[in-house]
Amino acid sequence: MSDHLKRLAAEKAAECELRSGMKLGLGTGSTAKHFVDIVGERIRLGEHYLCVPTSEATRKQAESLGVPLTTLDQIGEIDVCVDGTDEFDPALSLIKGGGAAHLREKMVALRSKRMVVIADASKKVARLGAFSLPLEIVPFAHSVTAQAIEKAFAGLGIKGEVRQRVKDGAPVVSDNGNLIYDGVNDGIPDPAALAAKLDGITGLVEHGLFVGLCSAVYLASDAGVAVITPSA
Ligand code: 5RP
Repeated sequence: MSDHLKRLAAEKAAECELRSGMKLGLGTGSTAKHFVDIVGERIRLGEHYLCVPTSEATRKQAESLGVPLTTLDQIGEIDVCVDGTDEFDPALSLIKGGGAAHLREKMVALRSKRMVVIADASKKVARLGAFSLPLEIVPFAHSVTAQAIEKAFAGLGIKGEVRQRVKDGAPVVSDNGNLIYDGVNDGIPDPAALAAKLDGITGLVEHGLFVGLCSAVYLASDAGVAVITPSA
């Protein structure tokens, strides 16, 4: 996805979603980064926002732009959360967590009156799963938890393998101190069913399936930005 399209999607989301005085959830990743830039620009122009970042990277970026930050503990509810995604399907179910931030992203999305995604067509799929499913797992007995997740995949007829995420030769550790695994799979026919199974696995802190959370996708292309809403 070109940087130009990421910025276009972020601009359209800002135009449609933002009103001075709002409490915002700030997503994570190279697309969400553009939205954080725009919030910073609006604050310099005199608008007011109070924001909850979904990762340490976003917190640092927002701080560097002078964006006022708070915590979910302090405000409890957010007006709108704007984030990127790794995949979205026609129902606007998402796979998130390519940046290992899906736990905080989901906590913020769940406490937002509205969650919207900014993306381009490379994130649009008929069925979720070409992007491996991010999984945040506590370090204690992590391979046992990974096996339980593989069983959950198999129980739903999904061919899957759960692999620890490694970067530069070292295990990826989330902002919360947990390990990141990825569930390579052959497609997720029923995201809600898989999410329900995964929700029941002790040791799996959070998975990257976002079902029923996204209200709209701002989808940028060379023709402009389309606003996609969930189809049944
Ligand atoms: C981070 C995420 C990101 O939103 C997702 O990975 C998309 O990132 P990018 O905009 O860089 O493609 O879920 O955990």
